[in-house]
Amino acid sequence: MIIAVDGPSGSGKSSTARGVATRLGLRYLDTGATYRAVTWSAVERGLDLDDTAAVAQRARDLELEISTEPGNQFVIADGTDITAAIREPRISEVVSKIATNLDVRHELVRRQREIIDDAQPSGGIVVEGRDIATVVAPDAELKVHLTADQDARMSRRGAELESGAVTAEQLRDQIVRRDADDSTVSQFMVASDGAVTVDSTHLTLEEVIDVISRLAKEAEAVP
Ligand code: DC
Repeated sequence: MIIAVDGPSGSGKSSTARGVATRLGLRYLDTGATYRAVTWSAVERGLDLDDTAAVAQRARDLELEISTEPGNQFVIADGTDITAAIREPRISEVVSKIATNLDVRHELVRRQREIIDDAQPSGGIVVEGRDIATVVAPDAELKVHLTADQDARMSRRGAELESGAVTAEQLRDQIVRRDADDSTVSQFMVASDGAVTVDSTHLTLEEVIDVISRLAKEAEAVP
């Protein structure tokens, strides 16, 4: 069973996909974390990120362990726990260079499919990204395209800032990333056949999780 959740940065994709996996007792894969892990490794080694062949080789050589437990997310690269490091602004600001490297994408899509296959005996997996329904798992039982209008994305972030959940620097970083994604990775945002668009603009997180869980049951993606 595969539930694909695609959408732009700031659409609430991660919290939603993790929440759906927890609710339905499924595994969870954050594919963005795989692009961030390769970015971290390339930056750590001082590679020229414009050297596409060197970065692609790094992607192939990297030993990567990524948790699929929705309640216990971690990423280990070449023996180092990089769970927090991959969210740092220095990574977010350059990750789209790595995500637009087609040889890196080829390698990471291959690895993502392996992780998805490995999760099938435990019931299935919710996979979050940009190209899950179109490229990684076009045979997913449920394909969700999660959207939210820009004002909603910004005001949610404003609320996070006021609550102290993020710092001004993290907020700025997220906005920089969103803009980078919109301009460089949008080629992967084409709608997939059979994808259901869920607009979260006027919904709470719990309501979005409810909607997708119901769709999963209707699609018989879960018992
Ligand atoms: O979702 P995120 O912000 O962690 O994603 C990090 C980067 O990877 C961002 O530039 C979008 C890109 N990405 C992608 O191209 N394809 C995916 N399936 C997931 C993320």
